[in-house]
Amino acid sequence: MPLDRKPAPNDLRAFWMPFTANRQFKSAPRMLVASKDMHYTSSDGRQILDGTAGLWCCNAGHCRPRITEAVRAQVGELDYAPAFQMGHPLAFELANRLVDIAPEGMEHVFYCNSGSEAVDTALKIALAYHRARGDSARTRLIGRERGYHGVGFGGISVGGIVNNRRHFGTLLAGVDHLPHTHLPENRMTRGQPEHGAHLADELERLVALHGAETIAAVIVEPMAGSTGVLMPPKGYLQRLRDITRKHGILLIFDEVITGFGRLGSPFAAQHFGVVPDMITCAKGLTNGVIPMGAVLASAQIHDAFMQGPEHLIELFHGYTYSGNPISCAAAMATLDTYAEEGLLTRAAELENHWQEALHSLKDHPHVMDIRNMGLIGAVELSPIDGQPGKRGFDIFVRAFEAGILIRVTGDIIAMSPPLIISKEQIDQLIGTLGDVLRMAA
Ligand SMILES: Cc1ncc(COP(=O)(O)O)c(C=O)c1O
Repeated sequence: MPLDRKPAPNDLRAFWMPFTANRQFKSAPRMLVASKDMHYTSSDGRQILDGTAGLWCCNAGHCRPRITEAVRAQVGELDYAPAFQMGHPLAFELANRLVDIAPEGMEHVFYCNSGSEAVDTALKIALAYHRARGDSARTRLIGRERGYHGVGFGGISVGGIVNNRRHFGTLLAGVDHLPHTHLPENRMTRGQPEHGAHLADELERLVALHGAETIAAVIVEPMAGSTGVLMPPKGYLQRLRDITRKHGILLIFDEVITGFGRLGSPFAAQHFGVVPDMITCAKGLTNGVIPMGAVLASAQIHDAFMQGPEHLIELFHGYTYSGNPISCAAAMATLDTYAEEGLLTRAAELENHWQEALHSLKDHPHVMDIRNMGLIGAVELSPIDGQPGKRGFDIFVRAFEAGILIRVTGDIIAMSPPLIISKEQIDQLIGTLGDVLRMAA
């Protein structure tokens, strides 16, 4: 191939797109070419109101100057530093800043590059923690039906979304699942549903089945996002905490979506008043600008590893880009932006307006359920007979054509706008979605 050969810009074949209907996309591409604050610009020059904060990650909106500048400056100063056996000051500073806003008791930070890596890291820490304490029969991991924990083998093993699991073999051995918490009697609930706390007691059943002394950890999303926005019933998370503590099982909250203000507190653990042993986060950590994930861990977990000869590595785990300087700079500037603009608590201020707007869609065609909390919401549509997911996908495409970005999981529309959204923009987002639902009927 001649060296000066340039790929034709309209040739879409080479890029195998993730979680995408590739053939459909390439026959009618939806391209974004720029972004600013609450909007994307599409390749045909339209302004698209971002109803999903990108992929639940741009919590401060797009191309925010502080973050853009910090990344630009960092690339020119210290572009990369080895992550193993070497350090750079920003990684330590950022860890302290994260501990400052994290729930009481989260005292240490392990860096990685994504939510999937954060999940696999937390699961590995859980296993190694028990082993470090001489409790090495605790190897079993418990997830939950309809849970999403990324796409690593650990994450899909504890995850509970069938299409993410069934194509990939036998997955990790020794994994079990709690039932999901989505009950029909909770339809059209505003905030946390009344029914379902008893579903946490299913953990007692798994303890009786497997023996507590074989179970290392339970991992759940405090609010399940990717499966279609499922709220934890009142009392459910507390009960899970009580049962895990009683049996010496670690509790991991996967806060890849709920971290950084989505529910109106820095983390969902604070919102629900339930503190786990570890928290995974990513996405909003850098406002989506640079890949970065992290695991927050209690002192008890961290300290269990700090034994043996001091020249030896305590945890045989890490990534080339763990805490890389550019990600750290982006994260620090993101935390500054959140603090300056009060974004980690803004969802609580907007929640009522968001809730009323969302529930105004209840009599629209095919709407079966609406649920909301903080600045997140879902509108569940009835499926077309024999074509599950078709109605949702059609609405998604029409919504994009109408100038709003939403997300669909099957026939569930999920929305999680940047936390800078104004009340007028909420009305515009939901008003446009309402028009699309009516026109598509
Ligand atoms: C709860 C949760 N965990 C893990 C992940 C995976 O994150 P990533 O796509 O950054 O690997 C996601 C992504 O949506 C998520 O919502």
